[in-house]
Amino acid sequence: MLSNYIANQKVHEQYGGVVPELASRAHLQNIVPVVDAALHTAGCQLQTADAIAFTQSPGLIGSLLVGAQFAKSLSLALDKPLIAVHHMQAHVLANLIEDPKPEFPFLCLTVSGGHTQIVLAKSPYDLKVIGETIDDAAGEAFDKSAKLLGLPYPGGPLIDKYAQQGNPKAFKFAEPQIPELNFSFSGLKTSVLYFLQDKKKKDEKFVEKNLYDLCASVQLAIITILLKKLKKAVQQTGVKNVCIAGGVSANSGLRKAFKELGEKQGWETYIPKFEYCTDNAAMIAITGYYKYLAVEFVDLSVSPSARAEW
Ligand code: KG4
Ligand code: ZN
Repeated sequence: MLSNYIANQKVHEQYGGVVPELASRAHLQNIVPVVDAALHTAGCQLQTADAIAFTQSPGLIGSLLVGAQFAKSLSLALDKPLIAVHHMQAHVLANLIEDPKPEFPFLCLTVSGGHTQIVLAKSPYDLKVIGETIDDAAGEAFDKSAKLLGLPYPGGPLIDKYAQQGNPKAFKFAEPQIPELNFSFSGLKTSVLYFLQDKKKKDEKFVEKNLYDLCASVQLAIITILLKKLKKAVQQTGVKNVCIAGGVSANSGLRKAFKELGEKQGWETYIPKFEYCTDNAAMIAITGYYKYLAVEFVDLSVSPSARAEW
């Protein structure tokens, strides 16, 4: 990995969530300086690239359009092959960026702001979703609970920070009963909402007084839902190489609980380096690398898609 440059968009903080139009505009403003900076850090010229890989789907269509159009233009101007990458597959393959890498087959719990999936990976080209959320994603559960606690967007990292000083057993929230390897997080959000409404009626300062315990308890509820299904997936498939990926895999409580569960169950566990968990360029590059080896190129007629089949 020669460089992994990320432009964070601060513009959304004041709105309590990502505003799609502002995201695509910030993308437009950032894309040339970011590519320049990435090349500079890597000490490379554009001409030395073997191929251009970009995120085709899923995501916010305006932002995807900016990236796709930019990648197509580079590919045409430089006469280099163009490679379309699926964002969620890239999160899974982020586990292959650095040693030690999981051997195939492996299971991956991918937890991000928009998706929660368990993936069975038999090779870089054979990734199958065997379980997923039927409503909110795990990241949304973090962010929406954080909002109810009066924390700014995105609240996931803040819940992580405050949870470290709280008691995870202080409060208990409803646990969903969902069949197979699927997840549900909308009930948890409602459970937190009603719980807080009730407590605030009795004491206006309830959240303020119990913020650390509330964060630790919400975090434990989410981790419990995730790891129960992951354990079930290992039992069903017999695959004991297990990874986590996606923005929520940056959560220190999840990382710790996952490692501990793995040790107890005799799994080989893998977690990408922190900077390869939340959205990053390196995961698109590693997926592009495998597609390059397989000569999986696309032509200029390719278009991005907000929701795409796996
Ligand atoms: O993968 P990602 O960076 O972007 C998407 O593809 O969605 O994931 C973003 C999500 C957000 O919901 C954010 O709150 C959550 O990951 N997140 C965390 C942590 N860091 C990021 N959630 C809990 N603890 C963290 N440390
Ligand atoms: Zn992501």
